[in-house]
Amino acid sequence: MLEKLNILLLGSGGREHAFARSLAMSPRCSQLFIAPGNAGTAQHGTNVDVSPNDFPALKIFVLENEIDMVVVGPEDPLVNGVVDFFAEDPQLKHIPVIGPSKAGAQLEGSKDFSKAFMKRHHIPTAGYDTFTFSKLEEGYKFLGTLTAPYVLKADGLAAGKGVLILDNLEEAKQELKAMLGDSKFGKAGEKVVIEEFLSGIEVSVFVLTDGVNYKILPEAKDYKRIGDGDKGLNTGGMGAVSPVPFADERFMRKVEERIVKPTIAGLAAEKIDYIGFIFIGLMNVAGEPLVIEYNCRMGDPETEAVLPRIQTDFVELMEAVAERKLDEVQLQIDSRIAATVVMVSGGYPGNYEKGFSITNLDKVGDTLVFHAGTAQQGKNVITNGGRVLALTSLAETLEAALEKSYAAAKTINFDYAYYRKDIGQDLLLMI
Ligand code: AMP
Ligand code: GLY
Repeated sequence: MLEKLNILLLGSGGREHAFARSLAMSPRCSQLFIAPGNAGTAQHGTNVDVSPNDFPALKIFVLENEIDMVVVGPEDPLVNGVVDFFAEDPQLKHIPVIGPSKAGAQLEGSKDFSKAFMKRHHIPTAGYDTFTFSKLEEGYKFLGTLTAPYVLKADGLAAGKGVLILDNLEEAKQELKAMLGDSKFGKAGEKVVIEEFLSGIEVSVFVLTDGVNYKILPEAKDYKRIGDGDKGLNTGGMGAVSPVPFADERFMRKVEERIVKPTIAGLAAEKIDYIGFIFIGLMNVAGEPLVIEYNCRMGDPETEAVLPRIQTDFVELMEAVAERKLDEVQLQIDSRIAATVVMVSGGYPGNYEKGFSITNLDKVGDTLVFHAGTAQQGKNVITNGGRVLALTSLAETLEAALEKSYAAAKTINFDYAYYRKDIGQDLLLMI
């Protein structure tokens, strides 16, 4: 075990700001670098202008700066094989990278792979079949055996846009043809998973694993659509709450026994090297958990609600993963409720302008301000993306946590700022 570590964090969103804060808070962190980071991550370390997907450039940086550990935020470097790149390079292979191998990242990188994996390991999920262009007619027939709404998923990564939910059969057939025949989602849509629609409430469950041992981190609820009442276009996420009232002990026991254990055991049985985070998107269907999707990373904005609740030293947690000693770590969780409200640029998830000054960032009391799409311009912080800030407050009750985050959202200003006004309201009705 090293006294202190130089750490390189990959990514640039609100999730990475939350990671940067947790890593930098540890007395075990020597220098923290973030590639490429944002104006918020720069409060906790040094941003470096290297793309997380430029592996040769990462190698040069890691060697020149004596990096001891790499923590990966987003999915694309993982799906592109950053872990394998390090493991196969004689100069890098001793440096742990927290994240799954390319094979493990297929849990997110290929819907067909993840559905087949769940089937092989008897993990509860929606019934499905997978089709390519040469099987288009069979795809139409399969759709005919299902009832509306119809769920079509592009197999590969499609920047969160590859899932279509359609109310009528003709439309579903047309979309299937557009995906398979007309490359609607490019290469990502060369295979399409068609699955049964699941009706229920979603919850995001996060697992940290060293390949053998695992810890279930605090769960969260995400608010995906742009408008109040979960209406309108899908976004990267407009808010989050952790914990989730319906994910009680009984429900989480089912999740652990039926989903988490067989997932970890299944990866090991298939000799897939997987360390790091598994994000399980679940549907609670009448009290029974079914997997909607796996992601090979933490969620955004869920991370901004989950990480502030983890009291265990975060560098020690990452080191335990790398050394495959996660069983020796005690997970300490803040019992308070975290509520996160995301402020976005007006127009998002469609077209929006960037470059507006953000004011009053330091006038929000004890609310944590995580930067997502921001940049530093001289003394000013300016908007630099669709999702701009994630505001997280902790309190004894959900009402109090929401009140603090919404007060912060009212205080912070930038032109054309927008945020949902109903984060957590559905959960308040359940308590
Ligand atoms: P995914 O990218 O697989 O998470 O899908 C995006 C969103 O589509 C999910 O968060 C769900 O809200 C919804 N969704 C995906 N699959 C299903 C399904 N089988 N039944 C109902 N909703 C689904
Ligand atoms: N908030 C959902 C995601 O990170 O995919």
